[in-house]
Amino acid sequence: MSTSVRDGVLDTIGGTPLVRLTKLYPDLHFSLYAKLEALNPGGSVKDRPALEILRRALELGEVGPDTVVIESSSGNMGVGLAQACRYHGLRFVCVVDPNTAAQNLAVLRAYGAEIEYVHEPDPVSGEFLQARLDRVRLLCRRYPSSFWPNQYENPGNPGSHYRTTMDEIATALAGRVDYLFIATSTCGTVTGCGRYVRDHGLSTRIVAVDAVGSRIFSDEKAERWVPGLGAGIKPPLCERELLHDHVLVTGLDCVVGCRLLARREAILVGGSAGGVVSAVSRLRDSIPRGATCAILLCDRGERYLDTVFSDEWVEAKFGDVSGLWADEPREVLWAARAG
Ligand SMILES: Cc1ncc(COP(=O)(O)O)c(C=O)c1O
Repeated sequence: MSTSVRDGVLDTIGGTPLVRLTKLYPDLHFSLYAKLEALNPGGSVKDRPALEILRRALELGEVGPDTVVIESSSGNMGVGLAQACRYHGLRFVCVVDPNTAAQNLAVLRAYGAEIEYVHEPDPVSGEFLQARLDRVRLLCRRYPSSFWPNQYENPGNPGSHYRTTMDEIATALAGRVDYLFIATSTCGTVTGCGRYVRDHGLSTRIVAVDAVGSRIFSDEKAERWVPGLGAGIKPPLCERELLHDHVLVTGLDCVVGCRLLARREAILVGGSAGGVVSAVSRLRDSIPRGATCAILLCDRGERYLDTVFSDEWVEAKFGDVSGLWADEPREVLWAARAG
């Protein structure tokens, strides 16, 4: 494995490894690869759009030394922007709501971000997202020089995944990717990857993985609590014609996927990645023998130790479900180890 000197921390964003999973589902009839976005320096896939959007705004002169960058995010995009803004010496205000995990707030503060709280959901839609976006607009009017990255509409969001994420996957697998499973929220990732597949004539089927209760593919209301998965609006970046299938996962599906991945592959990832793992299990019988599948695992598990990886929290939420990720005997894992 070669190592190289990078020009600052932002230069380490992207180029994440694609690892073959041989133990997750030992009797699988297709190959399965996981792209570990947790290994971005800010800990998630959102480092990519944060960097792309800010870099472009700097190039265009939309952001200067006195600009206040303002964004609504309850997690990873906020962290990605906090990292990029701090590196460039820019002031960053992150608009959050009561669902934002305490750990994320601590990470944001550690990067020097300012936190702006929205305490009540939008009275019409009942959604916090709408209330946070309204607050962003208000703040943008308040500062003489402000910049709103607007991850829900900025073309740099899908653009970053077109230019980097999907190109890395296609290159690593020599263009042979039959299925790609991706979690959705702003839809920047699915859209960027989907456009790449279309423009490069790849036969990859893009499977979007969304939360039950999200408005992206359905109008049914349900409680959602997995950060980064699903949206309370129909995201303008979503292009349905680029997607071949979608799977709706529950919070329990996310927990089960995370626990299996940790137990069987020793990979600790966040809730949306667990949902993607469960989506593969849901569709596995419809995937042809010998196919090549890839999954994008969006963030690290450490920020989910109080929820997904807490036995007490899981039992309080779902009852005794530990049988769903019963340990493979260690001899089975030993026998299934990669050559
Ligand atoms: C953990 C996690 N998974 C999935 C996503 C969805 O990515 P996108 O916004 O590109 O749809 C996000 C977005 O913030 C995320 O934080």
